[in-house]
Amino acid sequence: MKKTPIILDCDPGHDDAMAILLAAYNPAIELLGITTVSGNGIIDKVTENALRVCALAKIQVPVAQGAGNAILGAVEAASDIHGETALDGAPLPAPTFALESIHGVDLIAQLVRKSSEKVTLVGTGPLTNIALFLKMYPELKSNIAHIVFMGGSASRGNRTPYAEFNIWMDPEALEVVLKSELPITMIGLDVTHQALITKEIFDKLEAMNTEVSKTMTGLMRFFAKTYNDVFEMPDPPLHDPLAIAVLIDPTVTKNRFVNVEIELNGTHTRGATVVDIYNRTGRKANVNVALELDFDKFWNMMLDAVDKAGR
Ligand code: BDR
Ligand code: CA
Repeated sequence: MKKTPIILDCDPGHDDAMAILLAAYNPAIELLGITTVSGNGIIDKVTENALRVCALAKIQVPVAQGAGNAILGAVEAASDIHGETALDGAPLPAPTFALESIHGVDLIAQLVRKSSEKVTLVGTGPLTNIALFLKMYPELKSNIAHIVFMGGSASRGNRTPYAEFNIWMDPEALEVVLKSELPITMIGLDVTHQALITKEIFDKLEAMNTEVSKTMTGLMRFFAKTYNDVFEMPDPPLHDPLAIAVLIDPTVTKNRFVNVEIELNGTHTRGATVVDIYNRTGRKANVNVALELDFDKFWNMMLDAVDKAGR
C-alpha cells in the first residue's frame, strides 16, 4: 500500500495521544516524526507526554520539542480539560528513548529535506511550529504536499464563544499557514463534535483488554468527565485523530472548499475562523473545510489502531 508520509505536530493532550496511535498504526500513514508545541500544557509537559505515549505503544520515531509559546508570546494551558499533567486519567510508562537534541521546527525541516516524497504536515495543537517552519525554511515549501490542521470552527468556538482553542492560542500562526497557499484541510469543531466517544465506543475499547486500551480508556474517562463538567457534553468529542483519518480515507468526512480567514483583531472575536460557506464575500476559496463525519468509518479505523498498538 502506498503510504502518505506525515509529520505530526501535537500537544498531547488526550485526543492528541489517540492521534499518535492512529498515525503510527494505520498502514496508509508513514509517520516520519513527532514535534511538540505548547498548548494543552506547557511545552515540557506535552513533550514528556509524547514520549510516554510512544513508550506505551512501542512507537519509535524521532521526537523533538518545539515552540514553548505563540508567535506573539502567549502561553496558556488547558488544564480544565486535560488536567495538571495535560494527560491526566491513567499512569503512563517512562520514556524509552531520548528527545532529538534539535528544535522541533528544525526537525520538521530535516525530515522534509530527507524525504524522497512531498510531506504532509498535520497540526493537532496551535500552529506555531508549522508557521515558524514556513517562515524559516521557505525553500522547503515546495516539498510540502498538504497541511491538515485540527482547529477552528465554521460556527462557534470552545475557548471563547467564537474561537476554538488551538487557533485562539496562536491566531497569527494560522494567518501564516493561510498565506502559504499550500493545499490546506481544516478539521474544525463542526466535524470533530461528531466524533463522540459514546458508551458503545467505550465498551469496545474496554473489551480489547490490552495495556494500551486500558490506559486509553482511563484517559478517555477523564476527558469525558471534564467535557461534561465544562461543556455539558456527556460523550466527549475525539477531535485530533480526524486530522489523520482524512489522510487515510478522504471519504471519512464531507468537505467544502471555501474561503477561510482568521480574525486577528476582533474586540470579542480574536481567534475566530471566518468560514464563508456560501461565498458571500466573493473571496477566493483557500481551505478544504471538513463538515460532516462518517462516524462508523472513523471509529473502525481508530479502534483498529488502538487494537494494533496493544498487540
Ligand atoms: C483542540 O484543543 C485541545 O484541547 C485538543 O487537544 C484539540 O486539539 C480542540 O479544541
Ligand atoms: Ca491537541
